[in-house]
Formats: sequence, structure tokens, C-alpha cells
Amino acid sequence: MRLSVIGCGYLGAVHAAAMASIGHEVVGIDVDERKIASLSKGDAPFFEPGLQEILSEGLASGRLRFSTDMADAAGAAVHFVGVGTPQQKDGYAADMTYVNAAVDALIPHLAAGDIVAGKSTVPVGTAATLAERVTPTGATLVWNPEFLREGWAVQDTVDPDRLVAGVPAGADGERAADILREVYHPSVAKGTPFIVTDLATAELVKVAANAFLATKISFINAMAEIAEVTGADVTTLADAIGHDARIGRRFLGAGIGFGGGCLPKDIRAFSARAEELGRGESVAFLREIDAINMRRRDRAVDLVVDAFGGSVYKKNITVLGAAFKPHSDDIRDSPALDVAVRLHGLGAWVTVTDPEAIENARRVHPQLNYVEDRDEALRAADAVIVVTEWDEYRRQLDPAHAATLATGRVVVDGRNCLDADAWRAAGWDYRGMGRP
Ligand code: UDX
Repeated sequence: MRLSVIGCGYLGAVHAAAMASIGHEVVGIDVDERKIASLSKGDAPFFEPGLQEILSEGLASGRLRFSTDMADAAGAAVHFVGVGTPQQKDGYAADMTYVNAAVDALIPHLAAGDIVAGKSTVPVGTAATLAERVTPTGATLVWNPEFLREGWAVQDTVDPDRLVAGVPAGADGERAADILREVYHPSVAKGTPFIVTDLATAELVKVAANAFLATKISFINAMAEIAEVTGADVTTLADAIGHDARIGRRFLGAGIGFGGGCLPKDIRAFSARAEELGRGESVAFLREIDAINMRRRDRAVDLVVDAFGGSVYKKNITVLGAAFKPHSDDIRDSPALDVAVRLHGLGAWVTVTDPEAIENARRVHPQLNYVEDRDEALRAADAVIVVTEWDEYRRQLDPAHAATLATGRVVVDGRNCLDADAWRAAGWDYRGMGRP
């Protein structure tokens, strides 16, 4: 099938390349000339495992191309819209500028029978409003939310755990659902659940899923706060409750909390939208989820400060990690980088290392000292803090080896990902999050 993908960021670039990899003819469109130049050359503009390979293959096969000209979308049967919906600068609601601009620019190039499939995470009700503009062209607007996790984006796109198609009622909607089934044929054929619903439900599925995940993380972080005043161990607690299949252990990782380009802004946009709808109280708990999450960053900083008796002034602190999670170079709302910046603000000399995110981090926070080599970064550290659980720090860093590099013996485990016993046995003063 011929497809267009409007917006070539973390979502759109992966979607375009993944759709080409399953056999479609795809054009990816973005207004950012540098991004399009890079993608057209076969250079992934960000780190995402597997993307480079499917990008090169797609370009070489002739099925994948990129353009800054919206006119190149003409002729595609399905136009995916995957542009960003960041938090507004002066509030919690989503900034819809890019979605509106993308749809407005696309409309002149639509033909009767085309499908416009929204993928961006949007306030519920957006699709119905966009449909009023798209329908007069004879095209059908549907909502097809994306659940990909950064770091696993290629796999999540090619082999998702469910597909959701929000379509209008009637024959046009049924036809649109059939076309989406054809787009995702390999997944549909292997039995991946394909849920056809109305536009509002499809929009809500996405925000509800992210709200639930954020709630799960903040729940365990709230337990960490209780563990901290009672001497309990939140990791053992998570293991124990996680054995209950109704609860499950995944997303019960206590630590410095969630960040990234999705969960933080999505729960805020959800609260803002609920208030607009007169149902603010229904998701009032999300404010608490957000507050718990932000407190964990304070806690991580306090653990380092306490280790030095109340001041990190002129201390060498090595921060292991900058990305908001491993397998990503994304530093948007990264708790890891936030902790580094806060320590710097308290007068510490902060050295940051990360396998992928240094370039992005340096651009936003040039005041920190960045060192590519992990061991070099550890040299002469008075304290070490792990804030992104890359394997390089979690599994591959031998505490005895780290002790030969650092000057001090304080290690703060902001992700509860280190083997506390092994670090203590190697002479370190280990401090975890919600652990005795
Ligand atoms: C999330 C959703 O998982 C995905 O379905 C949606 O499409 C986009 O938003 P992503 O932002 O890539 O994906 O990251 P995710 O793996 O959900 O992690 C989000 C944050 O939560 C990270 O900062 C991570 O470190 C943190 N986290 C995750 C925890 O603090 N504890 C956990 O147990 C799990």
C-alpha cells in the first residue's frame, strides 16, 4: 500500500521505516529540513535500536523516502499523523499547534477515499474536531494510537501487543477499519488483538494506558517513601506484591521516577482536559502521581547531600546516565539529567556520562562536565550516582573496579538496579531508593 507519515520524530520516523519494512511504499514528511536530509541519507537522527537497519533497508529497496513537501503525500491511501503534542509553555494542556498545522497542510492534498490516521497523543475530542475539517475532502479521519516504548520502538511498531482503530460510525468507518487491517496485515494475521472502536475511546485508550503506567510507578515510589521511614525494603516489597498476577512486577521499579516525552506531559494534559470537561475530580489523583514522581528527584539529591553531612559544595559527583531511560538518547524531561543539574546547582562539580545521550544533554545543559568514557568519568569521584539503568552501569560495572577509579566510596542507586551486597562487599557506602 502507499502510505504517508506526517512528522518524523521518535514516533513518525520509526513508523515510516517500520511500515516500509513490512512491504509498504512509504513517504515520511517533516518540516525540519535537517531531519529529512539526515533520514534521506539513511542516518537515523536519534538513537533507537534497530532503526538504522530498517531505515537503510527501506531506502535501498526504494519503498521508503522522505520529503519536506506535503504535496508528496498525495496519492497515499493512508496518511498517518504522528507529530508532537508537547506541554504548553504556560500551562498543563497539550500544545496542539503541530497537529493542527499538519492536518491543515495535508487537507489540500487529500483525495476522496483517503484515510487520515491520527497517531499523536491528543486530548480526547480532538479527532471529532479534526474530522469536521477532513470529511469535506471525501477522506475519512480515524484514530490509531501508538503505544511504542522508546528503546523498543521498532519491535513495538512491527509487532505490537494490540492495535486500536477509532473510526466513525457507518460504512466509511467499516471501510477505514478494513484498510487499517490491511496496513497491519502481518500483525493481524498472527492474531494480534485489533480493537475497533469510536474516535473518543481510541483517543482515551492511549492517555488511560499512560496514566495507568504512571500511576503504577508512583504507587511503588509512594511505598518507597513509606519504606524510608520504616526501614522496609521497597524492592522486596515489589517482588512480593508482584507475584500476585493481578498486580504484576513490571513497572514497579522504584527509583527517581518517570520522565521522557510521554508520561509526564500526558498525565498533565489528561488532567487539563478532564478539567475542561468538568470532570477534573475524576483524575485529581494524577496531580498526586505527578507530585510523588517529582519528589523522588529531591530524594535522590538528598541521599547524595546527606552522604556528605549536608553539603556537596566542591564535591566531585559522577552521574551515571543522562537519558530518561536506557536504550534511548532521549533527554526530554529526564529525571537523570534533572538530578545532575540540581547537584550542580548545589555547588558540586558534576561529571555526567551516558552511552548515547551526551550530545543531547550537552546541548540543553552545557554547564555540566560530560565524559564519554565511563571509567574516565568515575576517576576521582567523591560519590557516584546511578540514574539511568544502562547495562554498562547495572551489570557491567564491577564495584571493585569502580573502587580503583573513584576517590570516595559513596554510591547512590537512583534506579535500585545495583547489587547492593556486592557494592557493600567492595567497600562502598551503598544508598538505594526506599531501601535500608
Ligand atoms: C511510554 C509508554 O510505556 C508507551 O506505551 C507510550 O507509547 C509512550 O510512553 P516511554 O516513554 O518510551 O513509553 O517509556 P517507559 O518505558 O514507559 O518509561 C517511562 C519512564 O518511567 C522512564 O523514565 C522509566 O525510567 C520510568 N520507569 C519505568 C520507572 O521509573 N519505573 C518502572 O518500573 C518503569
